[in-house]
Amino acid sequence: MGSELLEGITVLDLASVGPAARASRWLADYGADVVKVGPVPAKSGVQIAPPFFSYSAHRRMKRVLLDIKAPDGRDAFLALAAKADVVIESFRPGVVDRLGIGYDAVAAANPGIVYCSTSGFGRTGPKSQQAGHDLNYLGTGGFLALTGAGPDGKPPIPGATVADSAGGGMHAVIAILAALLHRQADGRGRHLDVSVADGVLALMALSVDEFLATGTTVETGSNLLLGRYACYDTYQAGDGKWLAVAAIEPRFWANLCTLLGLPQWAEHQNDDAVQDDIRRDMARVFRTRDRDTWVAELAPADTCVSGVLSVGELVDDEQFLARGAFATAKHPAHGTFRQTGAVLAGMVAQEDPYLVRESGVTDTDELLAGAGLDPARITELRESGVVA
Ligand SMILES: CC(C)(COP(=O)(O)OP(=O)(O)OC[C@H]1O[C@@H](n2cnc3c(N)ncnc32)[C@H](O)[C@@H]1OP(=O)(O)O)[C@@H](O)C(=O)NCCC(=O)NCCS
Repeated sequence: MGSELLEGITVLDLASVGPAARASRWLADYGADVVKVGPVPAKSGVQIAPPFFSYSAHRRMKRVLLDIKAPDGRDAFLALAAKADVVIESFRPGVVDRLGIGYDAVAAANPGIVYCSTSGFGRTGPKSQQAGHDLNYLGTGGFLALTGAGPDGKPPIPGATVADSAGGGMHAVIAILAALLHRQADGRGRHLDVSVADGVLALMALSVDEFLATGTTVETGSNLLLGRYACYDTYQAGDGKWLAVAAIEPRFWANLCTLLGLPQWAEHQNDDAVQDDIRRDMARVFRTRDRDTWVAELAPADTCVSGVLSVGELVDDEQFLARGAFATAKHPAHGTFRQTGAVLAGMVAQEDPYLVRESGVTDTDELLAGAGLDPARITELRESGVVA
């Protein structure tokens, strides 16, 4: 089941949420053996695992709970890390060094380790130690300021954790894969310092680079992709549902104008003086029919029109279904359900359901034995509460 492109690569993931957890999920979907390393709840008093039932985050992964603050727990982690290819962590910068499991400690025994530290602002700089979450990094990286504030100027909350997933998680995966490739040359790994805020900045390159090059203010409505023109906007249909219109190319725009019965605007796509008039006419015409009737007519006709689908609608969308975009998962208590499939460039045909396990289940014995600890030692660690 799943892709095997990363078969044989072992990843230790110290994070249960945020960018590092997104990264390790993608690595697992591509076939890496991912081991979640969490704290022993009763022992550490640290609440790191999310309090809610995680439907898909841990699929294809194993789990070990270690009290790394105890010297024996730290040593058990280092034994696991000595045989791993990748470590991913997302604590506040400095925490792993304090715990004795930072890059230097792991690389001393395993110079090939690719050690990815993801954090909000990176390991250096004045904000490095600041606590934060997705919304903070979207704010400081310019994403919120450019995401169509409403009339009161309040930036909307985005519908996905863009900073964690695309800013931090995907950049972490790219950096890890590049480091693994580079390691083939000399056997040496490296320490990767992935900042979610830097990742958001990378997502903002189009706008930020425009400002840096021209000095022109970049804000909502200031250019084509930020809503300056009627050809690239959202419109409400007669049933109250919304359409996304992105007719950038003149020929697609001309097709749209013709089909909407507004051919007079075909030659005025980028004419600032009439954009309000075009929008008013388009809004009026779109209100005459339901969303799906418009989509059925316009989408196949080279107009760059689509529906704005709710989650409840997209899970039955014919395109996603045709792509096999949803996987099947099975949980002992919650039964069988669908979940988003692996992001695998269309390579996967899922044979068996993903097994989603109860949150208390671990693979401690198997994993620690694999790291070279004998059964008596594992029992000892369990009895002293260093592992769970
Ligand atoms: C999210 C964040 C703000 C949480 O801050 P926090 O709760 O103060 O946690 P920290 O990361 O500073 O520290 C983690 C603690 O858990 C402890 N810990 C972690 N794993 C442990 C384990 N297996 N056993 C024992 N202790 C453990 C650490 O020792 C540390 O405690 P200490 O400071 O007493 O040594 C912080 O981790 C952070 O900024 N991370 C980077 C950005 C990020 O990922 N943000 C989330 C995006 S959704």
